[in-house]
Amino acid sequence: MTSTGIDDISLYTSSFYLDMHTLSEKRKTEYSKYTEGIGIERISIPAPDEDIITLAANAALPVVERCDKTKIGTLLFATESGVDQSKSAAVFVHRLLGLPSTCRTVELKQACYSSTAAVQAACALVARNPKKTVLVITSDVAHYPLESPGEATQGCGAVAMLITENPRILEIQPESGCCSADTWDFWRPNYSNYPLYDGKFSMINYVKTCKGAWKELSETRGLAFDQVDWFCYHLPFSTMGLKAHLKLAREAGSQKNSVELENQLSPIIHYCKVIGNCYSASLYFALCSLLDNAPERLENKLVALFAYGSGCSGEFYTGTFQPGYKKYIRTDKNKKLIKNRKEIDFETYLKFHKAADPIGESGDFTTPELTDGAFRFCGTKDHCRIYEPCSANVQ
Ligand code: CAA
Repeated sequence: MTSTGIDDISLYTSSFYLDMHTLSEKRKTEYSKYTEGIGIERISIPAPDEDIITLAANAALPVVERCDKTKIGTLLFATESGVDQSKSAAVFVHRLLGLPSTCRTVELKQACYSSTAAVQAACALVARNPKKTVLVITSDVAHYPLESPGEATQGCGAVAMLITENPRILEIQPESGCCSADTWDFWRPNYSNYPLYDGKFSMINYVKTCKGAWKELSETRGLAFDQVDWFCYHLPFSTMGLKAHLKLAREAGSQKNSVELENQLSPIIHYCKVIGNCYSASLYFALCSLLDNAPERLENKLVALFAYGSGCSGEFYTGTFQPGYKKYIRTDKNKKLIKNRKEIDFETYLKFHKAADPIGESGDFTTPELTDGAFRFCGTKDHCRIYEPCSANVQ
């Protein structure tokens, strides 16, 4: 069988962040609730000229610059914060990146799970025709009402991955475990700017789905929990991953103690802690965090990845890090990008928050130039969204 998986991976987030000190003061909430209770210190907030398209194009640009783009046969765009009900987010990015007209483009949705559906579909497409590669982009803006319990778990970002045969970073094994059920834990009706959710139930459902998906994976593969070197979880906030990991470990008969289990997760939560929730991209930010912050070289190590999308669909799958993978990752660039974001004050946060409402004014508008990214959202004209490169920001 053709070996398939992640040949290249690149992340991007907004140029701006809100510090949890600011939110804790304004919401009269203890800072430690944010940093220890939910495990978030900063959240990336999109400027009015940033959205899922600009985040996605910025994440994918370094991947496209490093590969033969004439070989990209499909662009799969995973998101739950789509900007149009018909036109897929993929076609906007297709133009911005100058991809061939022969490239298939589509958008996928199943809450935060869709990115993993895209990765699996990409592996299947490459296995069928290894001459073509697949660009998977997962991009989201986690946007909650002001003063709601979800406000501290906002964030935004995108991860782009090139899926090929004989991948240079992570080979993905074909067997996986899935778990789906019709639940109302988190959803966003078409008429609403914000998701509706039952926070506590969503956490219970996440853990239940995680156990169900692990059961199928471990039974199919004959895989024991302690045979896995590293775990990556979908992280709506960092303590969610830890809660699930501890519960799953006990159920799966792990011999590791709580400290060992916590250590097993510590490299994956760095980016979530300072970026926040990126919905469908969160699992792949956890993977980038592991690649960039692991205390050991990961060559030939086995990682298990758990994707969860409310509503609900979950999947556990595994991959093996490839010899020489470090040559192809962008650790310094990623850390610099995250560190160089600008802090915004509370008033600016309120303006950015309002601008991110997906159902806004129906008339045309223009946005101020704020992003440091290579692409920006300029506004709308005749109900069409306008995106352009920012030549001043291209490095
Ligand atoms: N110091 C340290 N810890 C503190 C603290 C303090 N001063 N004050 C409170 N805490 C702890 C609490 O004990 C609690 O910990 P436990 O869960 O271990 O008991 C934690 O901080 C959170 O406190 P609350 O439960 O009181 O917080 P909350 O009512 O404000 O809600 C939340 C938290 C449910 C996560 C809420 O932010 C929410 O609803 N978020 C959106 C839904 C969500 O993210 N669900 C996750 C699963 S669904 C999913 O994964 C899909 C997705 O991306 C959305």
